[in-house]
Amino acid sequence: MAQQTTAPTEEELAAAGLGLAIDGEVARITLSRPRRRNAMTGRMWTELARIGHTLPDRVRIVVVTGEGPTFSSGIDLDMFRSGDVDGEPTPLTLLARDPGDTAALERTIAAYQEGFLWLRRADIVSVAAVRGHAIGAGFQLALSCDIRVLSDTARLCMKEPALGLVPDLTGTKPLVELVGVNRAVELCLTARTVDAAEAERLRLAERVVADAELESAVDDLVAQLLAVPADAARATKELLLQAEHNDLETQAGAERTAQLARLAAMVGTSR
Ligand code: ACO
Repeated sequence: MAQQTTAPTEEELAAAGLGLAIDGEVARITLSRPRRRNAMTGRMWTELARIGHTLPDRVRIVVVTGEGPTFSSGIDLDMFRSGDVDGEPTPLTLLARDPGDTAALERTIAAYQEGFLWLRRADIVSVAAVRGHAIGAGFQLALSCDIRVLSDTARLCMKEPALGLVPDLTGTKPLVELVGVNRAVELCLTARTVDAAEAERLRLAERVVADAELESAVDDLVAQLLAVPADAARATKELLLQAEHNDLETQAGAERTAQLARLAAMVGTSR
């Protein structure tokens, strides 16, 4: 699917159930369909991808949150019906149109996944601020972020297998990396709900705070992140992202290479 290169307008964002506020180096994305508990549609995911692809270069922190008491109730259950949702055909509609053409459906799912993948980019730090339920796709969106700050009201659930599906919005890898494969199997194949205290124990939350303090806790975190120089933050995230795939020797070499670049930049700026 062709990558959109123009930023979404206010109207397009609103039609997709999203809010976007960019203030200097910080972008705040709000899932904004509160009457449906911020249920997510294909259009929401493709617009999320568009936000990521067209974010101004200066942005280095992205906060993802939900409007109201629920982060997200997951996929809009209308997406499991035939027809259109928000003017776009549902996956079932695509399949029914041409059952043999799985390539079209695969391209559609890949486009949905783009809405989640960009949150790992090294030039940004993404923060999920989770209040209330984060179910299915909502949980996967939180898992796509670098840091999860949970209100003590947070409730996480990977519900897809209970609905006859698999989690396919890029959540399985971070889930396994965070909790290990055995716990991931237990969580997914019981589709049980994890509260905030357990989420913290399982390393699914970097910070858990009282519900009334969620916004201020996220603001404090953002201030701490902004206090680190942008170039060093990016180079460090690049290093951290490759650490688990590298052996120690390779990683040590990557550290040297990155540090040489940092030191060269320092010498350059001190001249
Ligand atoms: N899709 C569409 N509409 C939804 C969804 C959803 N996922 N979740 C909630 N809504 C709607 C309800 O139908 C209801 O609409 P109505 O006011 O017209 O009756 C409204 O949002 C409020 O829902 P309640 O259930 O009354 O809200 P409550 O706060 O009690 O519960 C909760 C919230 C826990 C999120 C509950 O709504 C729920 O379990 N929703 C379904 C979750 C789900 O199965 N998601 C799919 C996961 S799989 C995936 O994401 C791929």
